[in-house]
Amino acid sequence: MLPRPRSIPALALLASALISSASAQLTTKCNPMEKTCPPDPGFGTAHTFYFNSTPPEDVFTSEANGIKFNEKDGAVFTISDRGHSATLASNFYFFFGRTEVLMKAARGQGIISSIVWGSDTLDEVDWEFKGGNETWVFSNYFGKGNTNVTGTGGDHPVSGSIYDLHNYTSVWTKDKLEWHLDGQLIRTLHAKDANNTFNFPQTPMTLRLGSWVGGDTETQAPGTVEWAGGPTDYSQGPFHMYVQSAHVEDYSSGKEYTYTDKLGSWQSIKVTEGNSTAAEIVNKPPEKSLSEKWAELPEGTKIGIYAAAGSVGGILFIALAIYYFKQRRQGQKEAALAARMHEEERVELERFKREGRNPDDLKFDGTEYAGAAGKGGMMSSI
Ligand SMILES: *[C@@H]1O[C@H](CO)[C@@H](O)[C@H](O)[C@H]1NC(C)=O
Ligand SMILES: *[C@@H]1O[C@H](CO)[C@@H](O)[C@H](O)[C@H]1NC(C)=O
Ligand SMILES: *[C@@H]1O[C@H](CO)[C@@H](O)[C@H](O)[C@H]1NC(C)=O
Ligand SMILES: *[C@@H]1O[C@H](CO)[C@@H](O)[C@H](O)[C@H]1NC(C)=O
Ligand SMILES: *[C@@H]1O[C@H](CO)[C@@H](O)[C@H](O)[C@H]1NC(C)=O
Repeated sequence: MLPRPRSIPALALLASALISSASAQLTTKCNPMEKTCPPDPGFGTAHTFYFNSTPPEDVFTSEANGIKFNEKDGAVFTISDRGHSATLASNFYFFFGRTEVLMKAARGQGIISSIVWGSDTLDEVDWEFKGGNETWVFSNYFGKGNTNVTGTGGDHPVSGSIYDLHNYTSVWTKDKLEWHLDGQLIRTLHAKDANNTFNFPQTPMTLRLGSWVGGDTETQAPGTVEWAGGPTDYSQGPFHMYVQSAHVEDYSSGKEYTYTDKLGSWQSIKVTEGNSTAAEIVNKPPEKSLSEKWAELPEGTKIGIYAAAGSVGGILFIALAIYYFKQRRQGQKEAALAARMHEEERVELERFKREGRNPDDLKFDGTEYAGAAGKGGMMSSI
């Protein structure tokens, strides 16, 4: 039997799209309605992720290749051939909450861009975009993976084009789900209207952003190809979906969420208080700048450093060394970001130079510094 066009869980499709490239991802899944599973790491905070640089690895995982992060476009999800899909998934869960995603959907018949919330019990809340339908967006939900219970009224016109930037917001409490498009409430689902709450999404969710090929005639069922808007012509690609930012708010303030029974209901979930790993990472105060670090040193130490170094040139050397090690730790951060830091620190170094009280003695050569820093930056990217 063909899948019915209005009721294909995106989570299953995202997963099936992944099987060819990363089947290992699926073997770790654990459905708490079937067995006892480890607790879900919580989020327990609110944060806006700007995807102009790579998000921390411990917070989001890129499943499959084809995702790049850059200053201009944010996260870029690219499909250029059969078998490609690109998903960025949060490692954390939120237990009621909201997400606001600013994104541009991908072009291309049969190419599906999506914002998906998915839980361990296969509760799911979606925004989906069909690349061949420029002026519509589709909302959907599933409770406990049940494709027999879905709502009607999930087709929404978009003013302008889905290929342009829009704000897709979903708001979720135990009583209702709301979908907002550019600040307008366009759909409400009351819990009682989802099979008398049984199939209302109600368990901790991850956020998954991504694109996949619903129109691949070789790998997808005919019903899916039809639902996706027709067969995909890869010669029209590559197809890019862009996500500028995602604001995520967890309405629970937990470190972990644990299923205490196999009912899959929100009442079954135990919230363990505390700071989540993800919250620790995103709320970490920014690293201190060089001048702040310098300012914090006791006066005696400063004098010692002056003396030991013999000149302000020595301080520059220390500063460069710190910069170099910082760069190494930065790992795979974008070159643009490194360049900006470089510029900021150059300005700071110039302040050191001015505050060095002996600028004439200073053997500082801007070109040489730029060369050294550039080399450090390159080495760090290997
Ligand atoms: C886009 O989707 C809407 C709503 O389902 C539908 O009425 C329209 O025919 C579709 N347009 C195209 C070009 O597929
Ligand atoms: C959905 O409906 C089909 C056909 O009526 C049935 O076989 C299946 O068990 C139902 N699924 C659930 C989860 O109720
Ligand atoms: C996105 O829409 C939501 C819901 O209307 C609104 O609260 C939020 O401020 C908007 N975000 C941006 C960045 O415009
Ligand atoms: C509605 O929920 C009940 C449990 O309360 C379940 O047994 C039933 O299968 C659900 N209905 C459908 C159509 O799946
Ligand atoms: C949790 O984080 C807050 C700041 O975000 C901090 O003040 C508090 O000490 C942290 N609690 C624990 C137990 O680490």
